[in-house]
Amino acid sequence: MLEVKHISKSYRVGGKKPFTSRRIVALEDVSLTLERGQTVGLIGESGCGKSTLGRIIARLMPPDSGDILWEGNSLWPEGAFFDRHSIQMVFQDLGSALNPGRRIRWIIQEALRAKKIHRDGWDQVIKAMLPRVGLDWDYLERYPHELSGGQKQRVAILLAILMEPGLIVADEVVSSLDVSVRAQILNLMQELQQAMGLSYLFISHDVGTVYYMSHKVAVMYLGQIVEEGSADAVYLRGWHPYTRLLLSSRLEGGETRPAAVEQAGEIPSRLRLGPGCRFADRCPLARQSCRKEKPPLREVEEGHWVRCPYCE
Ligand SMILES: Nc1ncnc2c1ncn2[C@@H]1O[C@H](COP(=O)(O)OP(=O)(O)OP(=O)(O)O)[C@@H](O)[C@H]1O
Ligand code: SF4
Ligand SMILES: [Mg+2]
Repeated sequence: MLEVKHISKSYRVGGKKPFTSRRIVALEDVSLTLERGQTVGLIGESGCGKSTLGRIIARLMPPDSGDILWEGNSLWPEGAFFDRHSIQMVFQDLGSALNPGRRIRWIIQEALRAKKIHRDGWDQVIKAMLPRVGLDWDYLERYPHELSGGQKQRVAILLAILMEPGLIVADEVVSSLDVSVRAQILNLMQELQQAMGLSYLFISHDVGTVYYMSHKVAVMYLGQIVEEGSADAVYLRGWHPYTRLLLSSRLEGGETRPAAVEQAGEIPSRLRLGPGCRFADRCPLARQSCRKEKPPLREVEEGHWVRCPYCE
């Protein structure tokens, strides 16, 4: 359904003056495919480029280069074939997503207006959709600050599914929620996936949550995908030293701000990246040649790709 082909993206930082301005590479030659009804999980440390990729796929900004195909047609520039509601994004930052000065009813009606659903049909749609996300009429008259984090996230998911999307980009959607509420929201997302044939790009730095949700997983490090495959291939038979480091820090059911990863040294600055493997400074298997040439992705079993020529 969605094919991301060789996209790159850099940001300018340090203002516009020539002597302070720098470009940092947020994504480098990233490719990914997403099938209908499936979830692709994206994991990696803070700053590796997950949200940048999510925002580009959700068409909130264009890539510098590369192509994104939706059912075989290019998304940039957008063609007449594409219904812009087909890809929705749900964020972690609930506060800014819901207009604080408006009741939930108004916020939902705005979405229905955007979808060009006639006013006469609004009540009927709302009545049908509220129970799908586990909310009732009472919530319609509340303001966003009168809802809990989990309830706000249910509203955010409702707003997304009202658009009848094919794909939802879910960026750290449960990261700020308590463990029990987190499980409810994840289960809700899975129920909706079954019922509506939705696909998700599920972005999180929590490795346990990603395993629970995903059919396929991509591991990102400093703007590149370093390993990709089925969730089981990556989690149970992960090859890349970074994947192993990330997973070794996995704590059963708990938080995963991975201590082991931090101990393995700092993430190198994007301004000082050398020509070779981006993980070389922290890699226990690194050798001379790793710093000279960029490792390509290689297929180690069907559908399982690893960006390292040396690990097994
Ligand atoms: N608008 C921006 N301007 C300049 N640099 C940016 C901008 N947005 C992101 N970056 C930089 O691009 C890199 C990737 O950021 P991104 O937000 O995609 O990471 P992330 O993996 O989502 O991190 P996190 O897990 O903390 O959300 C980081 O180095 C970040 O500092
Ligand atoms: S290419 Fe070299 S530095 Fe990079 S992950 Fe493989 S062994 Fe480590
Ligand atoms: Mg992010």
